[in-house]
Amino acid sequence: MLKLIVLSDLHIVPEGDLSHGLDTTERLETGIDFVNRRHADADLIVIAGDLADRGEKAAYERLQTSLAKFAQAPVLTLGNHDSIEVFADHFGKDHVNEQTGKIDHVIDRNGHRVIVLDTSVPGQAGGRLEEAQLAWLEQQLNEAAGKPVIIVMHHNITPFGVPTDGIILENGDAFAELVSGNRNIRYVLSGHVHMSVSGNFRGVPFCTIAGGHYNIEPTLGAPTQERSAGFVPRREGPGQLAVVLSDDTATVVHMENYIDRHLVLSPDLF
Ligand SMILES: [Fe+2]
Repeated sequence: MLKLIVLSDLHIVPEGDLSHGLDTTERLETGIDFVNRRHADADLIVIAGDLADRGEKAAYERLQTSLAKFAQAPVLTLGNHDSIEVFADHFGKDHVNEQTGKIDHVIDRNGHRVIVLDTSVPGQAGGRLEEAQLAWLEQQLNEAAGKPVIIVMHHNITPFGVPTDGIILENGDAFAELVSGNRNIRYVLSGHVHMSVSGNFRGVPFCTIAGGHYNIEPTLGAPTQERSAGFVPRREGPGQLAVVLSDDTATVVHMENYIDRHLVLSPDLF
């Protein structure tokens, strides 16, 4: 059995600053405490990008201080809000994959292969997997030799019918082509959209985690004029992570809220 924890969209800002009114460091540290208390038995923790809100050095320094509070060091990759240059300068060049030049990782644990891909592209909000990354991914899948594979990356691989559809992974088709077939891909987990969605794209099962920042209302079915006017309600939302439980036969993904302002119902009601 593999127990994998995936967090996303931390959007850390320098000390004394807020991001859209939210104290993102406090939110992250609530999440870290939650993981340490509830998931001390996790085999692996991955953070799926948008580590910093604006990619400044001071934000990565503050992030590093918070991450040291995890009982085990998480594996990191980047999102569109990050800066690979500033990140690598601060966290060290050993985070950069020699073959791809991006923050890509492969981890073999408990009979599974976990592949973490950096879909960020400097200067743009949408994501992409470069040719070198697709080649590296293919190599990792070949080496997995049918072992269950779980993939984590920042950008979602297909549109969801929501306002962020213009900034998804721009070569989702090339990715899907590579991972579909007899690859034993159990799940592709992403962040980016700040909402939880699950589905299947060209035979590839995927989900997105609402993450640690604000949540975006999908506005499905909203009047066209509201949608075209850029009417996108955002909420404080939960702080949300994914808990992936996977063995030889099944992979289950729980979305757990480490920040949740919902009322806890009285025991008398049961
Ligand atoms: Fe984000």
